[in-house]
Amino acid sequence: MKNLNIAVLPGDGIGPEITAQAVRVLQKLSDQGHFSLTLQEAPVGGAGYRDSGHPLPKATLDLAKSADAILFGSVGDFSLDTLPRELRPEQAILGLRKELGLFANLRPATIYPELAGASTLKPEVVSGMDLMIIRELTGDIYFGKPRGIRTLENGEREGFDTMIYRESEIVRIGHVAFQAAQKRGKRLCSVDKANVLETTQLWREVMTALGKDYPDVELSHMYVDNAAMQLLKNPKQFDVMVTGNMFGDILSDEASMLTGSIGMLPSASLDANNKGLYEPIHGSAPDIAGKDLANPLATILSAGMMLRYTFGMADAANAIDAAVQKVLAQGVATGDIDRPGAKRVGTVGMGDAVVAAL
Ligand code: IPM
Ligand code: MG
Repeated sequence: MKNLNIAVLPGDGIGPEITAQAVRVLQKLSDQGHFSLTLQEAPVGGAGYRDSGHPLPKATLDLAKSADAILFGSVGDFSLDTLPRELRPEQAILGLRKELGLFANLRPATIYPELAGASTLKPEVVSGMDLMIIRELTGDIYFGKPRGIRTLENGEREGFDTMIYRESEIVRIGHVAFQAAQKRGKRLCSVDKANVLETTQLWREVMTALGKDYPDVELSHMYVDNAAMQLLKNPKQFDVMVTGNMFGDILSDEASMLTGSIGMLPSASLDANNKGLYEPIHGSAPDIAGKDLANPLATILSAGMMLRYTFGMADAANAIDAAVQKVLAQGVATGDIDRPGAKRVGTVGMGDAVVAAL
């Protein structure tokens, strides 16, 4: 039987509660004979800083490197926001992405029929929506140099960052996006700001050239401001979207709200060999941490993506997706997806329901 060697990095806030439920789901599938499991846990983010003075302790990074895949909760802790930037919790996830070369971020935004009414948009606008945002994750203004805050001769301070993409970085995320489109609805929308920014003018040129290798995929281009508007106006027009790190960060949060709750959206961050880090796209939600209120479904669905993308176990991945669908159809709901007639549960209760559905 295949053994899955998984690093579990719960992190801060609601991270430990939600990863615990995803681990239960993996253990259940293991009990059912899909695979055997080796799980190793390590602190990360604010928890890493408290444990050993750094948000990404060396032992945690080593564990992440040696594992086949990483299940990640969330990082962020307001009480540490006054630390120098390199010691803040967010640096843990940025460091993992960079150190492990996890350049391809897959963020599906699918609406479950039961949740069409939970979106702030009209049900007819969102029902049936099924889009995949592919965000480049190790380049752009997130990592570009130079960056900093400097003091000018007149004493005024000036902040600066560098938006930068190499052709090779655009090509490799482009291939991931075109291939994802081939497996779905065969439509790819590349999002840029080529009317203003040189970096994304190159992005558009490279994507256009790459499109010649994928004649079966219909490629379109959209400026990011228009894309933000179109996502609210008619999200169903999109199949796969590909964009840079910064625009992808923003558009994926926007897309998550179309689905009813950010608590529903999983993600995969993959390297060139499909090794991956899997995390919900939401943050550490310190306001509800430790209260059994958080929705663990995004993390449970992330574990499903892990089985699908890193381990190539479509059956086990489909079992998780089906269990989540069943639980939603049963009306089981955490507060973020509560609706009239729903059966309200907490984080553990939602985990119980998914395990039972399996
Ligand atoms: C995300 C988050 C991160 C990002 C933060 C926590 C650094 O917002 O994964 O979308 O900006 O990429
Ligand atoms: Mg974000």
